[in-house]
Amino acid sequence: MDKITIEAPAKVNLTLDVIGKRADGYHELETIMHPISLIDKITIEKASSIIVNSNSSLLPNDKSNLAYQAAELFFQKIGKKAGVKIFIEKNIPIGAGLAGGSTNAAAVLLGLNNLYQANLREKELWELACQLGSDVPFCLLNTTALAKGRGELLTPVESRLKLDFLLVKPSFSVVTKDIFSQFNLTKVKLNPDNMAFINAWHNQDIQSLALEMVNVLETVTIEKYPEIGTIKLKMQELGAINAIMSGSGPSVLGLFTNLDKLENAYIYFKKSYPETFRVSSYFRSE
Ligand code: C5P
Repeated sequence: MDKITIEAPAKVNLTLDVIGKRADGYHELETIMHPISLIDKITIEKASSIIVNSNSSLLPNDKSNLAYQAAELFFQKIGKKAGVKIFIEKNIPIGAGLAGGSTNAAAVLLGLNNLYQANLREKELWELACQLGSDVPFCLLNTTALAKGRGELLTPVESRLKLDFLLVKPSFSVVTKDIFSQFNLTKVKLNPDNMAFINAWHNQDIQSLALEMVNVLETVTIEKYPEIGTIKLKMQELGAINAIMSGSGPSVLGLFTNLDKLENAYIYFKKSYPETFRVSSYFRSE
């Protein structure tokens, strides 16, 4: 086998709480991460050096691409002078709070482990993922999980609960580092209760879990970009049982139980926001 294609789904945060700032500059998080059916496809084939290409003019092909860094780190780890040709079919909006770069990097790690039959264990892949970025460990796992620490300490939340969402990415992007650097714990008025979320999740009680869809980073991003707040309110007006900004933003995710209302909201938002998607929970075996 010289060539393989791997699915790289986007991530959304169904809750996001910041516990405090750490000595290493990162923030201590407690967040429910969830993979959705908005998927990049990563094709990798053996080559003598690392080459990255994509179908998007917005993606860099050099070392600044996290997929490139993942390949470099992988070969360093297995001590092999080898390469790989990576093609990224980009469907996930960039700079959106959807872990697009992280999920590509995770797919490269998984793919190379397979392609080069390196047999790196889960723990070794996780360590490489941690070096690449805070969201990369979740993207390796790709099952709904409670994430703590920087986002790398993951406890899977098992269930086949399939949720339906409308996802809207405004035309602007944000830089995660900037949002975290402006975060001020004293400005937070409402925190998610992750234990209540997990209980509701296990009981398949969508109404109760929707109550906990709270992201404290909205205090920063919505203050800078009130449009995000407007999108959230409009989604709720159009029938979302709740709506939340994903990660550091600016994407907004609306949870719907009525698929007709979801379709109507899709038509409404698609007119003003080209990057509007109907998505649902992702399961790797699908
Ligand atoms: O880990 P990653 O490189 O994706 O994080 C991007 C930036 O987001 C970090 O440099 C840091 O400023 C911020 N961040 C944070 N706390 C986290 C995750 C990210 O402060 N838990």
